Amino acid sequence: MQEAKGGEKIMDESLQGTTLTLDKKKKNTRKLYIESYGCQMNFSDSEIVASILAKEGFNTTHELTEADLVLVNTCSIREKAEQTVRKRLEKFNAVKKVNPNMKVGVLGCMAERLKSKFLEEEQIVDMVVGPDAYKDLPNLVQEVDEGRNAVNVILSKDETYGDVAPVRLNSNGITAFVSITRGCDNMCTFCVVPFTRGRERSRNPHSIIEEVNDLWAKGFKEITLLGQNVDSYLWYGGGLKKDFAKATEMQKATAVNFAKLLEMVAIAQPKMRIRFSTSNPQDMTLDVIETMAKFDNICKYIHLPVQSGSNRILKAMNRLHTREEYFELIDNIKRIIPDCAISQDMIAGFPTETEEDHQDTLSLMEYVKYDFGFMFAYSERPGTLAERKLDDDIPEETKKRRLREIINMQQRHSLERTQQHLGKIEEVLIEGTSKKSDAHWMGRNTQNTVVVFPKENYKVGDFVNVKVNDCTSATLIGEAVALSENN
Ligand code: SAH
Ligand code: F3S
Repeated sequence: MQEAKGGEKIMDESLQGTTLTLDKKKKNTRKLYIESYGCQMNFSDSEIVASILAKEGFNTTHELTEADLVLVNTCSIREKAEQTVRKRLEKFNAVKKVNPNMKVGVLGCMAERLKSKFLEEEQIVDMVVGPDAYKDLPNLVQEVDEGRNAVNVILSKDETYGDVAPVRLNSNGITAFVSITRGCDNMCTFCVVPFTRGRERSRNPHSIIEEVNDLWAKGFKEITLLGQNVDSYLWYGGGLKKDFAKATEMQKATAVNFAKLLEMVAIAQPKMRIRFSTSNPQDMTLDVIETMAKFDNICKYIHLPVQSGSNRILKAMNRLHTREEYFELIDNIKRIIPDCAISQDMIAGFPTETEEDHQDTLSLMEYVKYDFGFMFAYSERPGTLAERKLDDDIPEETKKRRLREIINMQQRHSLERTQQHLGKIEEVLIEGTSKKSDAHWMGRNTQNTVVVFPKENYKVGDFVNVKVNDCTSATLIGEAVALSENN
């Protein structure tokens, strides 16, 4: 459809004598194929990139073979993530042989980490663009058009893309990401993110609210506020989080923290479901939990990565809380919001991790009984403090075995958690058709657990009360009772 529209406009302009190249650029005939890897922030960034390039006449396509420009938004978090991207580049190379005019750009964390080295390492790459340089894409694309390689990996103090309205990619029209902070100041010793995404800065709350209002007007029903460390959100008129101490008294007095932002969003759109990710335990404060409890439309789910249950390892990771402080936080969450779901990220086999440390991780998990989790074997990342100071000394088999034990325990806990929903009636927002059955809808409850149920006459975007009859460790299976009052 969009192609046809573009074609018509070209005819109009060419009648007025504009050159074909200009037509092509201005009139949406160039095709952008964009692929994203890694965290939700990358997927959200790709929507910003698509928006910036739409103004340059690029329409997105799902067909790699018809693309004029192929962009891959990359992840550096573990070595495997980088290997996946390298494999994709091989595939792009094969396509480029058939379509030599196709250009290939690398975005995101690998671009930032490897910079112009990428051009040497991967001959297929024409353009390397770091996460803070997307507004420079029009110039970079022009350079590439003129036959030169283009690189911009400059990190910024204040770029938040607050003024760019994202083009929603692969959208179900119901759920969307809204980014609220960029970068991270935490310097966990295993993590490459502070190096690839720079220092932390927050986005103007008014532009966040505007985006949320706009999403509601377009029919979206759920948003996820995104940041590496959302609880550390702090708006005082712009600038880096670490420079807050230098702010004026007025700026300090009117600053907006995460609890306040959550409240502002919850009030602005009282029917919009609100989620957020990720929370770092060291920055999560009681007022955030209390705000969650106060508003029905803030979902009762916290992704609260801990990485390890051992105080010694937490310290070596530069996670700035102890196991005991983490338990206190968990107790507070469960006290204030008894039915709150909690999920984790864990790393198995961090340097020097002993069997005892590993047992501490398992016993921490027993205490919390997470609803679900994302678990990884430690992967040494170049340039991080852990890589510079510590030997990656845990044998691969030991890492794998510990990881398996962590995953097995999580699966047991996940099942215990899903079983707690049996027999209950829960509100589910329908997101689309179930992957396993065309006759069933798929949605999530407030705790973020996936729920499937027969379609009947309900439709995508409906809030439906569903009676839960059965479950696996990851999914609740039920039947609709009625539309909820929330519609
Ligand atoms: N900002 C988030 C995490 C971002 S990275 C936080 O506060 O924790 C997502 C997850 O990847 C991390 O939580 C961690 O579990 C995992 N991860 C990061 N670096 C890793 C590494 N070098 N090896 C293995 N897992 C890693
Ligand atoms: Fe990484 Fe720690 Fe920040 S895991 S993204 S440095 S909170």
